[in-house]
Amino acid sequence: MSSETNQKSCATPVELFPREQDIPTNWRPGPLREQREYLVNGFFRVWPGALTEVFSPIPVRREERFEPRLLGRVPNLDRTAALDALAAARTAYDRGRGDWPTLGIVQRAAVVQAFARRLVSCRAEIVLLLMWETAKSRAEAEAEFDRTLRNLNEALEEAQSLATGGEVAVREGINARCGRAPRGVVLCLGPCNHPLNETFATLIPALLMGNTVVLKPPRHGVLLFRPLLALWRDLLPPGVVNVIYGEGDEVLLPLMRSGDVDALAFIGSPQVGQVLVQAHPRPLRLKTVMGLGAKNAAVVLPGADLEQAARECLLGALAFNGQRCTALKILFVHRDEVSRFIDFFLRGLRGVRWGMPWQQGVWLTPLIEPHRPAYLRDLLADALREGAHILNTDGGAGSGPWFPPTVVYPVTSAMRLWREEQFGPLVPIVSFEDWAEVESYLDQCDYAQQISLFCQDAAQLEPLVDPLVNQVGRVNLNCKCQRGPDNLPFGGRKDSAVETLSAREVLNALSLPVVLAARDSAESRRLMDNLSVSDRCRFLPEN
Ligand code: G3H
Repeated sequence: MSSETNQKSCATPVELFPREQDIPTNWRPGPLREQREYLVNGFFRVWPGALTEVFSPIPVRREERFEPRLLGRVPNLDRTAALDALAAARTAYDRGRGDWPTLGIVQRAAVVQAFARRLVSCRAEIVLLLMWETAKSRAEAEAEFDRTLRNLNEALEEAQSLATGGEVAVREGINARCGRAPRGVVLCLGPCNHPLNETFATLIPALLMGNTVVLKPPRHGVLLFRPLLALWRDLLPPGVVNVIYGEGDEVLLPLMRSGDVDALAFIGSPQVGQVLVQAHPRPLRLKTVMGLGAKNAAVVLPGADLEQAARECLLGALAFNGQRCTALKILFVHRDEVSRFIDFFLRGLRGVRWGMPWQQGVWLTPLIEPHRPAYLRDLLADALREGAHILNTDGGAGSGPWFPPTVVYPVTSAMRLWREEQFGPLVPIVSFEDWAEVESYLDQCDYAQQISLFCQDAAQLEPLVDPLVNQVGRVNLNCKCQRGPDNLPFGGRKDSAVETLSAREVLNALSLPVVLAARDSAESRRLMDNLSVSDRCRFLPEN
């Protein structure tokens, strides 16, 4: 965190946003990006119909007003165009007989590696668009791109390990070889807070395992997919990746209702996830891999290092404006520590910088979604009505797209802020006396992703850890909740996740174990050996 005091936080909203001449030349968004093309069956199709305007969360400032900043336009496809893309993916899969599903992991990995090499050349454009489409700071936009490449390489390594280690197992008179086979057509949908990283988190494993894909970029973070279309067109067999654009009701529901989606890889809200799953006419045939909502709690126990706890909670609650599924969205602080904790927290908050994505050291930037500030104001008004107070001087003072970080205390179970996922820079603090109050929160919470415990004393932690790992996906000790490092399993319970979103687990979820078996005999062993070295029998791992 920068030690520089945020002088701007007292400014009126209009002064918070830059005039055009204040934006450094190399960080300007550049010309309007008007896109009519989308990718179906290995070709760019040109959409003759309506386009959707893509606005930046960073408005244009003119004199004392600000106006929405148009970045570009993308096709607003209809149902027929979307279903054509799905048909292309089905044809490429060809009930498992297509070139891609029968290619073998090693050969598919070579194609994905070639894609990764060309992806590097798109870095500058994608980073710039992440900054303008999601208002992510330059450092975080660069980190998202680099992390995506790193994850891609990890998925490649994991996939290579699935391609080896095949053993002949003879048991109960059956000689068997096991491998993995794709699921079929995967509908791949990422979120607007990590549009590149979390779309690739399922796309790359889906491809490596031999599935074909229909991908729709999120509403915010959509233009940055344009440079990728040409790479997929050039490197993959036709129909293996198809990219569509449009409104969810118009393009996604018909895909799900068709029953022709075999796996749904979705990262977003549980409400949307549920609508999509329920639209499938044969849900038993649908595999789902989902990262959904979260309302992760930090719990500061008696005797915790309060300075450290406040620092981690600040980062956990406010990095990228709290727009992370893993953000700390409610802070439970023991009654005996709450006053000192709040002092540390507010002191730290004074050093948190608000600004534009290209400015050094900023954490807080405009919120991605236009409706979010009004929603946060509703949550805040409800909490104030129920008896909470705003603790920081500039808290709650925003208007329009500007919502300042706002610390609210004391929050109770009567308030919406206690149970709703704010996904923004609103920080609820609860004072608790007994651990049972935390348990009650966990019981009632719709989500169960992670928790952070702040405590130095093993005797206090001992009885808590086992019950907690049975309730959430990760328990963090004296540090904030987060996804990384990305080799760790990243999942959750209740409405937070379906399956685990780490490379190895997604490779497994988007494929299934399959078996080649024969009654054991010298003849069947000879047959198996011949097949396992055959260039046409690639699903079997090498010995
Ligand atoms: O939005 C949810 C992300 O998966 C969280 O990842 O903890 O690295 O921000 P992060």
